[in-house]
Amino acid sequence: MQKQTTLRRRGLALIPLCLVAASLHAATDPLAPTARWSAYTAGRAATPPMGWSSWNAFGTDIDEAKILGSAQRIVDSGLAAKGYRYVNIDDGWTIRRQIPEGNLVIRADRFPSSVTGGASSFRPFTDKLHAMGLKAGIYSDLGRNTCSQAYSSDSTDLPKGSVLEREVGLYGHIDQDIALYFADWGFDFIKVDGCGLRAYGATSAKVRSGQYRALAPVLDLESVGRSDIPAVQAEFAQINAALLRNKPDGDFLLSLCIWGAADVRAWGKNVGNISRTSDDIRPSWARLLSNFDSAAKRELYGHPGSWNDPDMLYIGKGDFDADHLVEAKSHFALWAMLNSPLMMGADLRSMPQALMDIVGNPDIIALNQDPAGNQATLAYDADDLEILVKQLASGQKAVAIFNRGLAPIDVDLTAEQLKFRKDAPITLTDLWTKAETPFTNETKLRVAPRETLILRAQGARVLAQGLYLSEQPGSVNPAVDGVTAPQADPTIFRSSFAWSGTKGAGERPMYAGWGGARADSTPYGQTLRIAGTAYAAGIGILANSRLEVSNHGYRRLSTQVGVDDSALDRTHGVTFMIYGDGKLLAKSKSLRWGQPAQALSADVGGVKLIELVARSAARGNEQLPVSWGDAALLTSARPD
Ligand code: GLA
Repeated sequence: MQKQTTLRRRGLALIPLCLVAASLHAATDPLAPTARWSAYTAGRAATPPMGWSSWNAFGTDIDEAKILGSAQRIVDSGLAAKGYRYVNIDDGWTIRRQIPEGNLVIRADRFPSSVTGGASSFRPFTDKLHAMGLKAGIYSDLGRNTCSQAYSSDSTDLPKGSVLEREVGLYGHIDQDIALYFADWGFDFIKVDGCGLRAYGATSAKVRSGQYRALAPVLDLESVGRSDIPAVQAEFAQINAALLRNKPDGDFLLSLCIWGAADVRAWGKNVGNISRTSDDIRPSWARLLSNFDSAAKRELYGHPGSWNDPDMLYIGKGDFDADHLVEAKSHFALWAMLNSPLMMGADLRSMPQALMDIVGNPDIIALNQDPAGNQATLAYDADDLEILVKQLASGQKAVAIFNRGLAPIDVDLTAEQLKFRKDAPITLTDLWTKAETPFTNETKLRVAPRETLILRAQGARVLAQGLYLSEQPGSVNPAVDGVTAPQADPTIFRSSFAWSGTKGAGERPMYAGWGGARADSTPYGQTLRIAGTAYAAGIGILANSRLEVSNHGYRRLSTQVGVDDSALDRTHGVTFMIYGDGKLLAKSKSLRWGQPAQALSADVGGVKLIELVARSAARGNEQLPVSWGDAALLTSARPD
């Protein structure tokens, strides 16, 4: 063990000098090691949150009976015991803000228990939920006004009164409202929407009508370039500070709802517990595809405490109702594999048992709630078929075989796709039927139209003495992913805008994140390859990047590094470095395109946080994808 020099500060704490130096350095150089995990860990989301929200079932037409009725079914049906805990009121609960003192007033006709001795309070309501063993969630907006105020065609359920009285969002009231929700009313969860920062520009019809004050839009769903990312982040920072003040025990959950805008798919993980990766889900298959795609390639951007959110479940309506059990089961299985929050969105009072059984499947819930927190990665992706594999804490894998289309598909599932040995027996267990399929090397499976086979797989790992980093995305955080100019990802399925039908040109690519870090793929979806050698396992990322890797007791990190063959920049060199708790452990020479991979290996015994830095003098990181081929954490301290 290296002797550590320490600083003594007022006799209180001993701070290792290397950490002080590391954090000072990081302030100026984003690639400098920080020795700390920077993704969000505040709040209570060690596993993806589970519960129910009023929006998909009721829109703004909510009341106490509907919400408590669904809560009661959660308890009575046994879903609460399976982990469904959050019962969230979405948009539509506010009648006005009192002027001048600013207190928010609840719609008394809809929430009779909120009228308490002349005051307006959700405390009796949250007390009821808490007494049922549940948690309570509330809804607000980053702007002065909410989404329904911006987009509802029917004003019945909207706030009433003067322009100022109808400003029920957080803007200008963060401290006051967060204190009201959490300290006074006892909520445990807040969803913060973003329409108030999007729809109230001076020229919008709403503002021109004189009914709403103008607020310069800083969020533009269709254009990341027209969004003011720091302004949005600054508001979330204030919300976080207020949450920590008002819930000092940390029992809260912050849900970001800016629909994949403003490049949030890259930074939401630093700011909240769950972060929407796309626009609203609708009860249609095409929309499921868009929302699924918006999260499916962001496997490195979701971790314990900071999950990707492709939106709430729509099981119970339209393409996911009791007449569409195949689609409903796919929806549930896919959301579970993505480590999405499992937020039901149906009127549970009348939810058919067949659908209750889907959301109650204990094996599928278990794979979503797996403590390792690894989002599934894509092992196959072509035509209408996707194979997703998720490493579980037990050492087993969960596998989803997803048929997006309308014809049955005969699938070859291979040991290789599972990173299992070809010569050892593998057993698949179907998580709906519990049927077991033993095989060696490869097996044939048939997937019906729109079906998702969801399986647990047991086998002998190719890498017996450790885990590839790409098998543990929950422990790998692209703190700096090298993307300098966020661009829309062209691979996400574009469903039509609900309100325009097929008029116009259709939905354009709009979710930034193209070029982000990937597991077992280059940032642009190619096979990882250095000087002609392909790597089935590894992390693909752009140059000038820093990955944080949380080390759970492994002793060695080994990898083959180099500029990926897909790089357009064929001149600049890249130097690869491995740090352990802020200390340089290994460094490559400067490697250019076409040069063979260099093996790097570092003793990480006792190290908590490993950082992998790829540094280059090149300015165009986007032209310079690099590969951490075969990057793995191993139990043995000895180099190969
Ligand atoms: C936005 C959100 C939805 C819902 C509505 C409420 O559209 O994305 O999830 O909260 O607002 O108006």
